[in-house]
Amino acid sequence: MKVLVIGSGAREHALVRGLLADPVVTAVVAAPGNPGMARDAQCDSLADVTDAAAVLALAARHTVDLVVVGPEAPLVAGVGDALRAAGYAVYGPDAAAARLEGSKAFAKDVMASAGVPTALAHVCTTVAEVALALDALGAPHVVKEDGLAAGKGVVVTDDRETALAHAEACLSRPGGQVVVEEYLDGPEVSVFCICDGSTVRALSPAQDFKRIFDGDHGPNTGGMGAYSPLPWAPAHLADQVIEVIAQPVIDEMRRRGTPFVGTLYVGLAMTSRGPRVVEFNVRFGDPDGQVSLARLLTPLGGLLYAAATGRLEDMDDLHHRPEAAVVLVAASAGYPASSRSGDVISGVPGVSAVSGVSAVSGVEGAVGPDAVVLHAGTALDTEGRLVTAGGRVLNVLATGSDLAEARDTAYRVLGDVSFDGMQYRRDIALAAARGEIHL
Ligand SMILES: Nc1ncnc2c1ncn2[C@@H]1O[C@H](COP(=O)(O)OP(=O)(O)O)[C@@H](O)[C@H]1O
Ligand SMILES: [Mg+2]
Repeated sequence: MKVLVIGSGAREHALVRGLLADPVVTAVVAAPGNPGMARDAQCDSLADVTDAAAVLALAARHTVDLVVVGPEAPLVAGVGDALRAAGYAVYGPDAAAARLEGSKAFAKDVMASAGVPTALAHVCTTVAEVALALDALGAPHVVKEDGLAAGKGVVVTDDRETALAHAEACLSRPGGQVVVEEYLDGPEVSVFCICDGSTVRALSPAQDFKRIFDGDHGPNTGGMGAYSPLPWAPAHLADQVIEVIAQPVIDEMRRRGTPFVGTLYVGLAMTSRGPRVVEFNVRFGDPDGQVSLARLLTPLGGLLYAAATGRLEDMDDLHHRPEAAVVLVAASAGYPASSRSGDVISGVPGVSAVSGVSAVSGVEGAVGPDAVVLHAGTALDTEGRLVTAGGRVLNVLATGSDLAEARDTAYRVLGDVSFDGMQYRRDIALAAARGEIHL
């Protein structure tokens, strides 16, 4: 089986490696990929991942059997629809089903129809409606931009003025709409549900760290680290998520004539009243997907192909390795407000100072059996040096017999990596490893 993976981040690098580890997968092409993926697989250029015609041309040129779309933007833009219409097996939903991530108001509507536990919410299109909703729900205030906002659309604050100002900014955009929500307390969990339109299988839950600084301080980012399993979570959380959340949502989407095929990312808050949905995404998390996938023993190619072709029911339940996984994100100077490109990265195995992407092919990114460097915002400069090229630059993903061992390995490997202005958190999985999280 030949697979095309769309995307250029650490999530897609992890998918490429997971697919290549499956014996049924004979080749993987990544587009546009990155220098890390180029060491593991063939990369082909793709200027715009949301350009359906360009993705279709790539699928045809490489005669692939399966297309795995990594990020949300192409899915919301309808790349899945175009590929399916041309007869390809696609892992990733059509645009109509990707609205579960593309519109928070739509997701709330589906949850209401499906009877799924989530925060009370008011969908508002005027500042006056927002003011009424803020007063009805009380502080802390949660105001969410309706559409895709690259992690910058949500404000959680005790300050009514700040909440109103955010709502005003969102509403001033064309077609602006916001969701004002009840505040949910409790640790957050990510559960990745593999869906084929009617059947659901869930990966082992993960927790990610959104804020830039230790102790959950500073602004939100795309994610600075993650771990799995969650020793403090209820034993059958994944099964509960399928029964109470994912299956009802998948049934509702099919009932509406827009079946969901792909990863339903269930973002939960573990409140004192039980799990409540914070949000849905329609793809694997980045970096939290990396730790759940690292623990998956079920071969990934066969699994995603079964989901893409409506055959998930024929598969056994998913198997996970008992080992723990920890992923650390190294970010560039200025992130998340900005990012700096062109800083030379040292300490990443397998990169030699020779020019051209092809020069680094065939070199494994693994750092011993228990750790791997996944590339995100990296590039090769004109001299063939690995340099930063974005906010989140790379991941170190490690496994170990428990969280403490996995974090030791991850931090040891990250300790060898350096570039000017490198930022990373020192406390990823620390509280969980110490048994300090309680529900
Ligand atoms: N109802 C809520 N109560 C408390 N915190 C929330 C709530 N909704 C969102 N948040 C916080 O804001 C973050 C971002 O919200 P989310 O809905 O996941 O949007 P996005 O990931 O699209 O930015 C969440 O990870 C969570 O920390
Ligand atoms: Mg989120």
